[in-house]
Amino acid sequence: MKVPYFIPWITQKDKRAVVNVLSNRWLTGGPIVNKFEEKISKFINSKFASAVGSATHALHLSVRSLGIGPGDEVIVPTFTFAATANVVSYTGAVPILADVDSGTFNILPSEIKKRISKRTRAIIVVHYGGQSCDMREIISICKDRGLCLIEDCAHSLGATYAGKKCGSMGESGCFSFYPTKIITTGEGGMVTTNNKKVYRSVQLLKSHGMSIHPAEREVKAKWKYDIIDLGYNYRMDEIRASLGVSQFERITEINKRRIRIAKKYDEKLEKIKGISVPMTKPDRNHIYHLYTIKIENDYHLTRDELFQKLHKKGIGTSVQYYPLHLMSYNKKKYHNKISQFPNSNKLKDTVLSLPIYPTMTENQVDYVVTNLQNL
Ligand SMILES: Cc1ncc(COP(=O)(O)O)c(C=O)c1O
Repeated sequence: MKVPYFIPWITQKDKRAVVNVLSNRWLTGGPIVNKFEEKISKFINSKFASAVGSATHALHLSVRSLGIGPGDEVIVPTFTFAATANVVSYTGAVPILADVDSGTFNILPSEIKKRISKRTRAIIVVHYGGQSCDMREIISICKDRGLCLIEDCAHSLGATYAGKKCGSMGESGCFSFYPTKIITTGEGGMVTTNNKKVYRSVQLLKSHGMSIHPAEREVKAKWKYDIIDLGYNYRMDEIRASLGVSQFERITEINKRRIRIAKKYDEKLEKIKGISVPMTKPDRNHIYHLYTIKIENDYHLTRDELFQKLHKKGIGTSVQYYPLHLMSYNKKKYHNKISQFPNSNKLKDTVLSLPIYPTMTENQVDYVVTNLQNL
């Protein structure tokens, strides 16, 4: 049996949606992008949504739209993907890394407080694996210190905290539609926001800073446009949006299936000595974009030995994350003290994300569990 780390769930209907859109004339900046944005903003309960080419684009435009730049600092977790911190560096500001909770892998409010300086302008939180951070405490820190909050929701489309969707609680929420994610458009992303200024800025910057888009110019019979700011081409096209709209129709089912698989893993893995299953916290729902276990000292293999042995059995796993403060680029550029991140330093050797995807069968879950038991 083979159990890959992930399989995107692409139906016949998804394929038809993509093929059908190819008959349209405007393959970008058309009605399907608008439809995708409307659906996501309604789901998240945010006033606005703007589709972009990736979560990296969404994060970069969020940081830019808040006016962050040289001389500023933004606090981000060290236990995340490179993009969360890189987007801060793109603007000339400095990402200040903070340690995470060793149970949920989410940024610790106490570590955020330690990293705040006169230069701090914002915090980017990552809702790791599909479970919300401690938003009550983090929002309160932001209010007390006058900081902006950006939510990196790459893992958390549909996750909630105290009844509120991730992506509706900060200045902006930044979603990813990469193939491993909750829904996919190949590459793709979305900014959600309740802040009209941020929305307008994202709309402007994602399309070269142009005052009026080509499709709109055609409708309005206007040829003249101005370049108002230094923008980018971070747009999503109609082809990807049509896949997104079609995938999004199944969002409830997708997350239900992920939770069902996670519960099966929980039930079976809790009995294995030396394996810790993902920690869940009250007041939030975990949608299990990742199912990340910890391989403790009393397991009979190290994490790396287990990774290799599972690979030989046809089981794909992944390590999320090797912390950013240990990556060559960050070490060279920012000189973080390694001892500031005790939890992440340990997690880097113990975490292992197991396969989880909506079409995963019970037999496949059993195969993974049996191997974890008997290897
Ligand atoms: C936490 C986190 N943030 C940002 C990103 C970047 O997403 P994208 O590939 O859509 O740019 C990822 C991608 O894996 C991620 O895991």
